[in-house]
Amino acid sequence: MSTEEKYVTIRKDIDKRLIDYLYSANYPKNIIDPIKYIFLGKGKKIRAILLIESCSLFNIDYEDVKDIALAIECIHTYSLIHDDLPAMDDDDYRRGELTLHKKYDEATAILVGDALISLAFELITNENQALSAECKIQIVNNLARFSGGLGMVGGQMLDMYMDPSTSSIKDINSMQFMKTGELFRFVCTAGPIIGCGSEDDIENLSKFAELYGSIFQISDDLIDIESTLEIAGKSVKKDIKAGKSTLIGLLGIEESKRKIAINLQQVEAILERYGNKGKVLYNLCLQLVDRKS
Ligand code: IPE
Ligand code: IPE
Ligand code: MG
Ligand code: MG
Ligand code: MG
Repeated sequence: MSTEEKYVTIRKDIDKRLIDYLYSANYPKNIIDPIKYIFLGKGKKIRAILLIESCSLFNIDYEDVKDIALAIECIHTYSLIHDDLPAMDDDDYRRGELTLHKKYDEATAILVGDALISLAFELITNENQALSAECKIQIVNNLARFSGGLGMVGGQMLDMYMDPSTSSIKDINSMQFMKTGELFRFVCTAGPIIGCGSEDDIENLSKFAELYGSIFQISDDLIDIESTLEIAGKSVKKDIKAGKSTLIGLLGIEESKRKIAINLQQVEAILERYGNKGKVLYNLCLQLVDRKS
């Protein structure tokens, strides 16, 4: 099976397990239906894939972390649903279709987002999850910190109110690391945490996440400038109009692309010590470079 075929299988499995879980736990239909709308068959699920590959680096099987992989996609999907709301980026399209608040209404979008946060913690701590109690606590604590006010939500807050005319490269890097990079840090460090890696391994994977997050966000900002609604599946050409602070806004396209190239070299150096297994993570970084969606 090729790597891409493996990822297609993982995406399908994540979708299936989410639906099976929601029905078996008797979630109300008016929560299940919008979740199906925004989640099933949608999204690249790169956070789940990064988590699985980081775990594989430390000899942990997909079977042992599949609920954590699903949980991170629940958190990520909630972050997108709320990011698109009129009070935030006010977007009409996501994952190739109308945003959740456009398809349903704002109350549904807010509440479904809220339900996905709780669902993530429900999944990680469920009794079928094979991890030790100690490991679960560490994972739950990291997910809470990296997705909340110290991480993704904190970064979203900075993103909303940062003034491009006064923000420095350092300000933008730190805002972007919080809003996008911290969820990558969660998934990338899960491998050494669950697989009993060393402090150095956690440090290396954390640094990898920082670089991956930076490449990811620059390419997301490039998509806003260079892509179309049809290809990206979401509204584009909005960042400048909305007064968003981005690295591209400050450095320009060419310099931002140079930063991607420098980050890739650093990623290669960090992953060298993991041999062939590390190449899988490097290839996931490479895929970001020319992505169109
Ligand atoms: C988009 O994330 C939003 C950002 C965090 C910048 P993805 O590009 O991973 O979105 P999906 O999950 O594939 O739709
Ligand atoms: C959103 O960043 C990051 C999140 C934490 C959801 P953007 O606002 O740039 O993401 P898109 O471009 O709408 O997907
Ligand atoms: Mg936003
Ligand atoms: Mg947005
Ligand atoms: Mg964007």
